[in-house]
Amino acid sequence: MLSEIGGLSVTSQKSVLLIIGGGIAAYKCLELIRLLSKAGIKTRAILTKAAEQFVTPLSVAALIGEKVYTDLFSLTDEAEMGHIQLSRSTDLVVVAPATADLMAKMASGLATDLATTALLATDKPVMIAPAMNVRMWGHPATQRNLAQLKKDGVKVIGPDEGDMACGEYGPGRLSEPDAIAAKIIDFLKGTGNKPLTGKKMLVTAGPTHEPIDPVRYIANRSSGKQGYAIAEALAALGADVTLISGPTQLDVPGGVKRIDVESASDMLAATTLALPVDGAIFAAAVADWRVANSSDQKVKKKDGALPDLTLAENPDILATVSQLKSGRPELVVGFAAETQNIIENGSSKLVRKGCDWIVANDVSPDTGTFGGDRNSVHLITNDGVDSWPSQSKAEVSSQLAKQISEYFQGR
Ligand code: PMT
Repeated sequence: MLSEIGGLSVTSQKSVLLIIGGGIAAYKCLELIRLLSKAGIKTRAILTKAAEQFVTPLSVAALIGEKVYTDLFSLTDEAEMGHIQLSRSTDLVVVAPATADLMAKMASGLATDLATTALLATDKPVMIAPAMNVRMWGHPATQRNLAQLKKDGVKVIGPDEGDMACGEYGPGRLSEPDAIAAKIIDFLKGTGNKPLTGKKMLVTAGPTHEPIDPVRYIANRSSGKQGYAIAEALAALGADVTLISGPTQLDVPGGVKRIDVESASDMLAATTLALPVDGAIFAAAVADWRVANSSDQKVKKKDGALPDLTLAENPDILATVSQLKSGRPELVVGFAAETQNIIENGSSKLVRKGCDWIVANDVSPDTGTFGGDRNSVHLITNDGVDSWPSQSKAEVSSQLAKQISEYFQGR
């Protein structure tokens, strides 16, 4: 069976367990169910007691074409399908709207009703689409719960920013049903298709911090977003990914093993330890220099006198790995951050460092690439230069991960 929605398709019948939480946005789930059904996805539904205040079990049942589950202690429901089986006879569990209360219960592992019991009992991936008042969303407790859920591997869609039913404005709106459906379909497409299964991948990301003394360091503006997105995209294709990360504010993507480092020397040591791998992608913005005479004690400010800092060149991690005589990864991909003559400079970096591919990107200040969400890159390989349109870092990563998987499939 092949169904299409927004250019996405699901090739075999997949199913979703939709847990509808009690928020004003619950009505949008009716449209979500319609879109999933149009894409050939079977939906089963659980309504929380609070959700029943916003949508009726009857309207949900009419759309999914079967009964809706609401009660943990229903003898008839348990006889037909126990809550454990309900939570596992699906490809994906989706919570929408995920209220602050549901998120808190999930983060603490509470099982107080059918919805939370199913969430605790499931062995399937879980996606949540949060929706709540802007202040509830921004509350440290909710943000703590969100961080915990991400750590537990829960995928998060939204929330969007905009006018809210309560009259306030800000982040907290449930993402639109078509955006949620697209994420679900994208995910389900990937579940049956893991071409990088069995492949070990290493990704470097983020800046490095080169100490001047115990409180000061030299750094750069890299956020780590591009490298983290690549690690996530490779893991989504089934790869076993080790992410070696300089200091960032980012959460580790689900299914990825992260090793935290500070300096270029630490990054080289962690990279060497993580070998052998099949492929290595070097997206980190490694500092070219470190302070050779860094101090163990805080350098004191003296009137009028500037500190005497001597710089030394850092090891080049990409070149070191590319030029390994034994244990070299089969595919080594470097990045080139350039502000002018992007392709020309990227091509000479490919030759100079000895890697197989270079992803050359324009990092001029007006592009916002460093720290921003978008990137515009040229993939340089022995076959030539492929210039990709400006797109989100997630899209760059999916495209790169796809090329990498095609490379390994073609071997
Ligand atoms: O982190 P973000 O905010 O998302 O931004 C993404 C990015 C701009 C940092 C990323 O897309 C990028 O371009 N990463 C490489 C940045 C860089 O250091 O480029 P470079 O041209 O100076 O280095 C070339 C290559 O050598 C890179 O693969 C780099 O990781 C590697 N290198 C550089 C120096 C060094 N001592 N060791 C290295 O391994």
